[in-house]
Amino acid sequence: MTAEEIKLYIRKAKTSDIETITRIENQQFLHPWKKHQFTSELTHDISYFYVCEDVSTKEVVGYIIFWIIEETMELHTIAVSKKYKQKGIGKRLFLFMMETAKKKKVEEIFLEVRCSNTEAIAFYESFHFQQVGVRKDYYSSPPEDALIYKLTLPSHKR
Ligand SMILES: CC(C)(COP(=O)(O)OP(=O)(O)OC[C@H]1O[C@@H](n2cnc3c(N)ncnc32)[C@H](O)[C@@H]1OP(=O)(O)O)[C@@H](O)C(=O)NCCC(=O)NCCS
Repeated sequence: MTAEEIKLYIRKAKTSDIETITRIENQQFLHPWKKHQFTSELTHDISYFYVCEDVSTKEVVGYIIFWIIEETMELHTIAVSKKYKQKGIGKRLFLFMMETAKKKKVEEIFLEVRCSNTEAIAFYESFHFQQVGVRKDYYSSPPEDALIYKLTLPSHKR
């Protein structure tokens, strides 16, 4: 089934989602965030923490966290549950982030990604993000560079 076929709903994350989010996180990352890190994201004013829910099963199938600081947005994390990957769910979450950027008059979106994470790189490049820098050995175990990606949005002032 694709995202068009699965009925999806994007809503704010809440404390009761953290268990499922942590499970997805543990499936998907070498160095997963801990529960308390997700819980703390629920309390920051600048943090936008949303989940994507399968309407029919009420299952949380993905999540996204981004920050907005003045005109700049930073993507902090995005992940989709293993069995729901490559069905357009990441895209739904990402488009939601982009719509929020537009509404909040964000001018630039930044993100960092492990240089070996080819699926995430392909995903970001599909939204026309461009690599603008490298942080040498930014990640540990294994040590790896972070690639910095940026998207400039049409300015509302120009
Ligand atoms: C990155 C991630 C969120 C993408 O979510 P997804 O729901 O699987 O992606 P989508 O199905 O919405 O894909 C959208 C587009 O991204 C690209 N893409 C996604 N997965 C890809 C893959 N494995 N290989 C190549 N391109 C890929 C494609 O262009 C795709 O468009 P298409 O389906 O029309 O070809 C998901 O792979 C994931 O959870 N990865 C593990 C966590 C992670 O690494 N997060 C990023 C941390 S920096």
